[in-house]
Amino acid sequence: MTAAETMLRALRDRREGYALTQPFYTSADFHRVELDHLFHQEWMFAGHDCEVANPGDYFTLVVGDYPLIVTRDKAGQLHAHHNTCRHRGSQLCDAPRGSVKRFVCPYHQWSYDPDGSLVRAKAMNLQPFDPKEFSLRPAHIESVGGYIFVSVAADPPDFAPFRDMVESYFTPFDLANAKVAFEDRIEENGNWKLVLENNRECYHCAGSHPELCRTFPEAPSFMRTTNNQGEGVIEQFWKAVEAEGLPSRFRIAESGQYRVSRIPLMNHARSYTMSGEPAVARRMGRVPDRELGSLMFFHFPTTWNHFLGDMVISFRVLPLGPHKTELVTKWLVNRDAVEGVDYDLKTMTEVWVATNAEDAELVARNQRGINSPAYEPGPYSLDYEDGVIQFIDWYARLMEARIGGGTGRLKSVA
Ligand code: FES
Ligand SMILES: [Fe+2]
Repeated sequence: MTAAETMLRALRDRREGYALTQPFYTSADFHRVELDHLFHQEWMFAGHDCEVANPGDYFTLVVGDYPLIVTRDKAGQLHAHHNTCRHRGSQLCDAPRGSVKRFVCPYHQWSYDPDGSLVRAKAMNLQPFDPKEFSLRPAHIESVGGYIFVSVAADPPDFAPFRDMVESYFTPFDLANAKVAFEDRIEENGNWKLVLENNRECYHCAGSHPELCRTFPEAPSFMRTTNNQGEGVIEQFWKAVEAEGLPSRFRIAESGQYRVSRIPLMNHARSYTMSGEPAVARRMGRVPDRELGSLMFFHFPTTWNHFLGDMVISFRVLPLGPHKTELVTKWLVNRDAVEGVDYDLKTMTEVWVATNAEDAELVARNQRGINSPAYEPGPYSLDYEDGVIQFIDWYARLMEARIGGGTGRLKSVA
């Protein structure tokens, strides 16, 4: 039996409402199947438009087996290129970000325009040589409301339903005119699903997150993954915020892959700070300074986000191996906000820097326990862990469809 067939059997045998069995968190073979059928097939959150605001700006990332360069050309068009030279395949660009006129390969100096075309290759004149045949190989790229997604699939899923769902939610924040004020990169010692599972519940919050619990409501009623929360307190909250021109209502893709929903914060907080006061004096886009809670946005498997009136915090999850996961957190603020004048970095970042560190420890401990041969999957709390159930159900359905020969193609719900 191949690893994919073994995984398919394990998915079909899985006990719903229970954690996955050990190989899903430990097996290099299962990880290989996930790269082939999930990370190399779906849209992955890469970064933000404002990180490549000008022609020649770029950043690099690695999606599974594929190193990529995201850049903007002279005409303002975004590109994702495979970060591998068309001469003899050297990695072209080593830096995490920067700005170039041309990408010059460090090996033999073949040079590429940001649009990917080969513009210089010295001494390649002794045989027929058409530079047009040696442009950088493209990957797919899309952007919506300041969020860039890439896909290395030959034929990625339709991006339009996702765009249609989230665009109006993102627009008021004007992320095209934002900047990354701070970035935090950590390598978590756990499987990528443990990182997402941990994010998808607040069952652990009261015991582990004293900083976050000052403002974030751990009550499960605000975190539901189905629309039956549209009653009472939350309904009143949505109505009031939508009256300010800010889409807020819970929406989820039929597949469960992505969703948006606004939640109120606790104790009249207006941002994720220790005091609950905004950390940044300048507002995001046209978002007023009121108790607007947090607009949460999720897209599996790579991102969760909090949109506040004074900053947007994005989180990007990418696997580095079966037991290692990269988490990159970015704090975006109004482009015109000045550090030391409009915001103080520590005040702005301390809640989520602390929360990330606490979560990283929880994930590492979860992984160590699952590594034991004595591990057996336990049941989820229906009340507090329905977000984990929803994530695992999405994952299981998608992997079953893809391994089983289906497309796992994703549709949105109006
Ligand atoms: S491998 Fe890039 S120029 Fe030779
Ligand atoms: Fe947490």
